[in-house]
Amino acid sequence: MKWLVTIMSLTVALAARADVEWAYQVVDESQLPAQDLEADAEALRTVPGSDLELTQEQIDDHWNPPDWFPDSHYAPVPDVVAHGAGPTVRACAACHGFTGAGHPESSHLAGLTASYITRQMADFRSGAQRSPSGSSAMRRDRYWMNTFEPTQEQIEEAAEWFSGLPVIDWIDEVIETDTVPRTYIGDGRMRHIHPDGGTEPINGRIIEVPQDRELATARHPNSGFTVYAPTGSVARGEELVTTGADGRTLACATCHGEDLKGFGDTPRLTGISPTYTVRQLNDFKNGDRAGTLGTLMLLAVENLTDEDMVAIAAYLATLDP
Ligand code: HEC
Ligand code: HEC
Repeated sequence: MKWLVTIMSLTVALAARADVEWAYQVVDESQLPAQDLEADAEALRTVPGSDLELTQEQIDDHWNPPDWFPDSHYAPVPDVVAHGAGPTVRACAACHGFTGAGHPESSHLAGLTASYITRQMADFRSGAQRSPSGSSAMRRDRYWMNTFEPTQEQIEEAAEWFSGLPVIDWIDEVIETDTVPRTYIGDGRMRHIHPDGGTEPINGRIIEVPQDRELATARHPNSGFTVYAPTGSVARGEELVTTGADGRTLACATCHGEDLKGFGDTPRLTGISPTYTVRQLNDFKNGDRAGTLGTLMLLAVENLTDEDMVAIAAYLATLDP
């Protein structure tokens, strides 16, 4: 009997994970359009306003990510951010960008406190947070953040630098709709509008695509995203976030600050990718993100449905960063 119950709850847990699988942006090779497969990795590319010319291969070099505007930094960029450290530590800017805005497939870091960033790194290292043994696709595919072994000094330098970056407005608009352009997950786990066109039902998802595909694949530091969310989700999200919706969750401002821009080392919820938000809420709920302070999120997520998570993320995406 006991055995049966265990199997049943396992099935339920797995099913719950599978539902927001789209938020983990896993590449499906069979969906790649011909233009991606035939792309010329040697052709020189540039972005408006920059003197640099780089091939896609150079742009995708995780130890030398493109610094298109080297004069724009508020303070010297630490080596570990720009070039990583040795064979296992990739440059933070390769995935988080030189503006720390990140992409939907990674995360924002700008303006988070240095001690929050340092704590996340410790949690990644211990495997407690976003654990490699977890079953979410983010990990199954690549264990980026858990396989890093930067020194404590490198972590602190990077944390200090990212925490000093201003938060940029990365989301140009949130569009509520039942139908979205057909998309696919391309190389580098970025979601793009399919070049062959077509539409499909949004099907309870958030679809987040670059405003400008060329700039996003060149890893331009200021090129933003457009967000499509299910009809009605923003209003429902507002109710959940601001009131807790009759005990379904807790009002987020209690811990994340009155304006949701962070309070002490509790991180900001504004100006972040809604795809990332859904992944985190799902990970907190299923125990894949159980770091030092992750337990504080448990009461806020335990009763949330996938639909609630999407609504919360959509509403947060409408707020000014
Ligand atoms: C190869 C890609 C990649 C590189 C390089 C990388 N990261 Fe990450 N990082 C990620 C991904 C992907 C996530 C989000 C995981 C998730 O959604 O759960 C992440 C998340 C994080 C987070 C959690 C953010 C939050 O709001 O909780 C921190 C902190 C972080 N990274 C710091 C760093 C630092 C510091 C470096 C450089 C030493 C670095 N990362 C290099 C891919 C990368
Ligand atoms: C009781 C306090 C508390 C409440 C209430 C709370 N949170 Fe949190 N939240 C936290 C703490 C603490 C963290 C950092 C956890 C960690 O370090 O891993 C966090 C982290 C998060 C993160 C991850 C951010 C990132 O950058 O990775 C998201 C997303 C989040 N909360 C969303 C929400 C939402 C949405 C609500 C309201 C529905 C909410 N939280 C309510 C305490 C709280």
